Amino acid sequence: LSQYPENTLAQRPIVAAHRGVPSITPENTMVSYRKAYELGADLIETDLHMTKDGKVVVMHDYTVDRTTNGTGAVKELTLEQIRALDAGVKFGPEFAGEKVPTFEEFLAEFKGKDVVLLVELKADGLEKQVMNEIEAAGMIDHVLLQSFNSNHIRTIRELNREVGTGYLYSSAVPSTTDQRLQKAQQMMQYGASMNASLNASYGSLSPEFIQYMRQRGFLNMHWTFRAEEPFGDALEAGVIGPITDYVQWLTDAPIRL
Ligand code: G3P
Ligand code: CA
Repeated sequence: LSQYPENTLAQRPIVAAHRGVPSITPENTMVSYRKAYELGADLIETDLHMTKDGKVVVMHDYTVDRTTNGTGAVKELTLEQIRALDAGVKFGPEFAGEKVPTFEEFLAEFKGKDVVLLVELKADGLEKQVMNEIEAAGMIDHVLLQSFNSNHIRTIRELNREVGTGYLYSSAVPSTTDQRLQKAQQMMQYGASMNASLNASYGSLSPEFIQYMRQRGFLNMHWTFRAEEPFGDALEAGVIGPITDYVQWLTDAPIRL
């Protein structure tokens, strides 16, 4: 990385494990998160929803249909019903028995470990309970809370000024550099400190935008890195690393630039 002196944050890209390591393990399960940690991920990304009885669980989709052997919306099922589901068997029989983790379980697994938890709020109304659970676990310094919804970030910052936050945006919305800058300025007012952006093809990177954000203390990451190709262009533009389904390509092997 010596050719990228701007990237002073690390000797290699900062690597975030997107939903664990879903290329080789069932996404958003404890086995997947443990694999991400074992492979040396710097951050472990996860998604949160709330059950019918008000418990925070780890799942990407609004329903349990795709990743478990059950059906229904997370918010219409109780924790007991969700914990009875199998979140591993659809990925492979060797993962049968994996449960949908609770957020508490996820936090407890990584308490005291050298990894940052990149926690995405997927639904409205999660903020207070999520903050309570993070505070109860004593893990304010170990999490970054992120969302596509700027209102979630604002609420989080109102609840706690210390916790790190991130704003997610897709390449489509906001679509132009100007719109991105406007959104970024709003996020700065809310106190967001990190930024993750989509650039599916890595061909429409905007170095201007990335540098603007860096100069204001934002860390730019790009999601979702799934192609076995160099990440050098993104690093050169100032991105600190990928949010990837393939942690094993980036931490367990020499970096391809
Ligand atoms: O961390 C970024 C990424 O997770 C956002 O997209 O749909 O995978 O949650 P999604
Ligand atoms: Ca996510």
